[in-house]
Amino acid sequence: DRLPELLRRMPKAELHIHIEGSLEPELMFAMAARNGVKLPYASVDELRRAYAFSNLQSFLDIYYAGASVLLHEQDFFDMAWAYLQRARADNVLRADIFFDPQTHTARGVAMGTVVNGLYRACRQARTELGVDAELILCFLRHLSEAEAFDTLEQALPHRDKFIGVGLDSSEVGHPPEKFARVYAKCRELGLHLVAHAGEEGPPAYVWTALDLLKVERIDHGVQSSKDPALMERLKQDRIALTVCPLSNLKLCVFPKLADHNLKQLLEAGLAVTVNSDDPAYFGGYINDNFVQLHEAVGLTAQHAYQLARNSFEASFAPPELKQRYV
Ligand code: ADE
Ligand code: ZN
Repeated sequence: DRLPELLRRMPKAELHIHIEGSLEPELMFAMAARNGVKLPYASVDELRRAYAFSNLQSFLDIYYAGASVLLHEQDFFDMAWAYLQRARADNVLRADIFFDPQTHTARGVAMGTVVNGLYRACRQARTELGVDAELILCFLRHLSEAEAFDTLEQALPHRDKFIGVGLDSSEVGHPPEKFARVYAKCRELGLHLVAHAGEEGPPAYVWTALDLLKVERIDHGVQSSKDPALMERLKQDRIALTVCPLSNLKLCVFPKLADHNLKQLLEAGLAVTVNSDDPAYFGGYINDNFVQLHEAVGLTAQHAYQLARNSFEASFAPPELKQRYV
């Protein structure tokens, strides 16, 4: 079977990666030591053993605790640089990278510290790795609309260092419409718009992300297969889904990878992409997602080609880069 090698080697774009979810336990412990932060785990091994999740919230609790080691601009740089090198090794030529500023500003870290460290890593990746990477600011949906507006205001002095906004964290109980006015403002500012929807939440959340937030892509969106009218809408409008197979497995969205619906979504004509979400927590980077999915559901070379092409087409890369690959 030569498909794993093709999947690993093909040029690809990654559109769903939370930079805080790329922080490997070894780097987390190194930062904890240098910053004098105490982690509630004695060792890297003990921390890794805690990575056994039953749903999204059980993961988020540990993920937000892990981010507590990030204090200085250099910490944000080092985390992003480690991811970008890893992405290069997977032949990722473009990355649209999520970050969660509220996880840091709530601990007293300045917005500029976060954005400047991440942005410097993206700039260096372009010159030293040939990876084109840009940032998407995510609002935490378990927090209020007012806190999202406040975060946007803090980020505006850095408007030139991020290209869009997203919506992440606890989905059920925090529907997209909670942030309709925030997204309207972001739209006026010319920002790209995406949102997590239909990860654990119902198809209704995908509908409102599209119709009320006016997003250009849906992050996850795997629950859309429960609603035929929604499937038709996603297909007609060529709305990309940034699907994350190993994340869905580890957060028990599907009981087994063999039960994952990515191939059905793709064969229904949707603009599906494969992504890693939080690779340090879910046991694999983007190529691991491709290869393990293939081993579970049997992808073909045609599927591989379509997934790679979709990833560039749906990316927010500059037209020159997109046109080279679509
Ligand atoms: N934050 C990081 N990963 C996430 C996910 N899979 N869903 C929602 N919020 C997240
Ligand atoms: Zn995500």
